Amino acid sequence: MSLDVQPLPIRNPQIYRDIIAGLQCTPPTIDSKYLYDERGSRLFEEICDLPEYYVTRTELELTRRCAADLAAQLGSRPRLIELGSGSGVKTKVLLRELFDVDAYVPVDISPSALRQCVINVGADLPDLQISPVCADYTADFELPRKGFQGRNVFYYPGSTIGNFLPAQAREFLARLAQLAGPGGNLIIGVDLVKERAILEAAYNDAQGVTAEFNLNLLHRINRECDATFKPDGFRHLAVFDEERERIEMRLISERDQQVFFPTESFSFDEGDHIVTEYSHKFTIDRFIELGEAAGWRTRALWTDERQFFSLWLLEAQP
Ligand code: AVJ
Repeated sequence: MSLDVQPLPIRNPQIYRDIIAGLQCTPPTIDSKYLYDERGSRLFEEICDLPEYYVTRTELELTRRCAADLAAQLGSRPRLIELGSGSGVKTKVLLRELFDVDAYVPVDISPSALRQCVINVGADLPDLQISPVCADYTADFELPRKGFQGRNVFYYPGSTIGNFLPAQAREFLARLAQLAGPGGNLIIGVDLVKERAILEAAYNDAQGVTAEFNLNLLHRINRECDATFKPDGFRHLAVFDEERERIEMRLISERDQQVFFPTESFSFDEGDHIVTEYSHKFTIDRFIELGEAAGWRTRALWTDERQFFSLWLLEAQP
């Protein structure tokens, strides 16, 4: 008699391994990049319009204000590579001012958001060459090389750099400097350290959209990893850690419970939490330091009147 061994129903082994490894840490952690499935990407765009979430609004205003200045500094026909383009709504401002780009290369982990981006930007700027890349830019990814000789300008808005731990942020920026090549540029948006109340309100909005966004992660993991999270057994909370200067987004267990994966189980006591995102905030000095440690020199810097947010033009050192 032979045993009929069924393969485990693991759809995406890489995501599966990564999620399990994260949950085995103390505290259990899930990489924030997994927040962006189709629904998560949509919820994030909703967050950007929330009254408490000053980030997107402030950055957009800043970008409008300095776009001409920025374009003048960038010279002619660079290739604009956007990391984490989402649906591209925010990029249109920059592309309209920088109409002289050679090509626009949106990079995003979500195929649905990327499709939306190509449609959105293409409708607005029909003559622009768009070369989308569907990739996890935190892992190794390739830039389209065909026939391109010019300068690379990376665009990394939204203070997404804050999602990395400090050592990872340095490593990532160093890799970008390599990819950009000497004289290549990086336009990067960086959220600044500010009062706790303002920060915590931005990540615990009154309408509960951020809570939905956070809890959506559990639905996604159930779906993609065949897990048994009960999303109503967890609640969202974001706290500002003053010492580490970062917002920590958590899912807090509402009761003692177990969660099963095909190969693994995890128990949570009431009050235990899973970390689902870090959002580091910077001071001007600390970001200059970080850039320099990663091979970037500051060419220009803009901030708003309240000093909530900063937009930087960096140049890769030879
Ligand atoms: C775009 C990833 C930087 O950290 O502010 C918004 C994501 N998380 N609300 C941020 C986010 C909760 C956002 N990033």
